[in-house]
Amino acid sequence: MAMAMAMNVSSACFCVSSNRRSVNRVRAVASEDFAASKIKEDKVQLGGSDLEVTRLGIGAWSWGDTSYWNNFEWDDMKMKAAKAAFDTSVDCGITFFDTAEVYGSRFSFGAINSETLLGRFIKDRKVKDPEVEVAVATKYAALPWRLGRQSVLTALKESLNRLGLSSVELYQLHWPGIWGNEGYIDGLGDAVEQGLVKAVGVSNYSESRLRAAYEKLKKRGIPLASNQVNYSLIYRAPEENGVKAACDELGVTLIAYSPIAQGVLTGKYTPENPPTGPRGQIYTPEFLTKLQPLLNSIKEIGQNYSKTPTQVVLNWLVAQENVVPIPGAKNAEQAEEFAGALGWRLTSDEINELRSLALEIKPVIGFPVEKL
Ligand SMILES: NC(=O)c1ccc[n+]([C@@H]2O[C@H](COP(=O)([O-])OP(=O)(O)OC[C@H]3O[C@@H](n4cnc5c(N)ncnc54)[C@H](OP(=O)(O)O)[C@@H]3O)[C@@H](O)[C@H]2O)c1
Repeated sequence: MAMAMAMNVSSACFCVSSNRRSVNRVRAVASEDFAASKIKEDKVQLGGSDLEVTRLGIGAWSWGDTSYWNNFEWDDMKMKAAKAAFDTSVDCGITFFDTAEVYGSRFSFGAINSETLLGRFIKDRKVKDPEVEVAVATKYAALPWRLGRQSVLTALKESLNRLGLSSVELYQLHWPGIWGNEGYIDGLGDAVEQGLVKAVGVSNYSESRLRAAYEKLKKRGIPLASNQVNYSLIYRAPEENGVKAACDELGVTLIAYSPIAQGVLTGKYTPENPPTGPRGQIYTPEFLTKLQPLLNSIKEIGQNYSKTPTQVVLNWLVAQENVVPIPGAKNAEQAEEFAGALGWRLTSDEINELRSLALEIKPVIGFPVEKL
């Protein structure tokens, strides 16, 4: 079984990087080559903006992080694994990366900020592959002492410095502020007008905040491209609180974060083997016990397509339309598996069956900023 899964994963993309195992080339049959090359072309427009990104992006929160991920430690091995995750994603045609100024540890000794790492990975890649095009999304932290439109531009310029770039493709407000929100939206508009970003978005915005941000930018002729929210098969709040419907109505792309429920929907964590660290507080053995019937169905459905549970749950999100999932990859294997979530489609019956099984599970508590 483990061997079968490894084969599915390794054949998910036709890797071209010189350091990939050559056996991957043998395993990549013609139809998979086609699927992989299609991924490269299969981009979606982000909301009403001119920006096109791959149907699935990669989250870079764990890169350099010592506060939530990586068992509170960052070392050279983890950095090499993160770099391999980046390179493998690009090899597989996934070129949209999501980071934030608050990801990774700028202040702890020996650790490094996620933006800095992403910038280095891009720079190194460009040496080997000057034509490579990567779309970078980063975020502004709406901290209570940050006020006014200028604070957005100041933070953005600091992010660009860390990234080593003169502009980014997408700049997002990471969460709504307790106050100062009007100024933040003005700051996003200024960033577009100054050519520092191609598109702008928000994150953790409720339906009413989303509509207000959309209208305010529209007055300046700037489309709100995206709202990045927690969305997965077992966290369907955006379907219930009006956010998904409002995104669809306004033509704003929903970027789905924690799309594999922080690893729990991959099936690798069980009541006997729960995740360690802060995730263990959320995904307890009791929760994981209740999850098993859903995980069994996900696995069974995946077997019909020779797909892993991870690929099934990501495909389920893509099938909701107007959704771009951004799973976090810590290493090459995880990134490679994500690529296999694209290029095929669950049937509507399977999509509905999974939703109705998921309805049996009480959702975990989300990020409280969603309710600000
Ligand atoms: N806007 C916001 O407020 C916000 C909040 C959260 C996240 N985000 C963004 O969304 C991205 C993704 O969310 P997330 O990192 O919270 O959760 P996620 O994507 O649901 O889960 C990522 C974790 O799952 C595990 N994993 C990944 N691929 C796997 C595979 N193929 N097989 C088994 N396990 C696998 C890894 O951890 P282990 O290997 O340790 O299990 C990985 O760190 C973040 O990186 C960030 O860019 C944004």
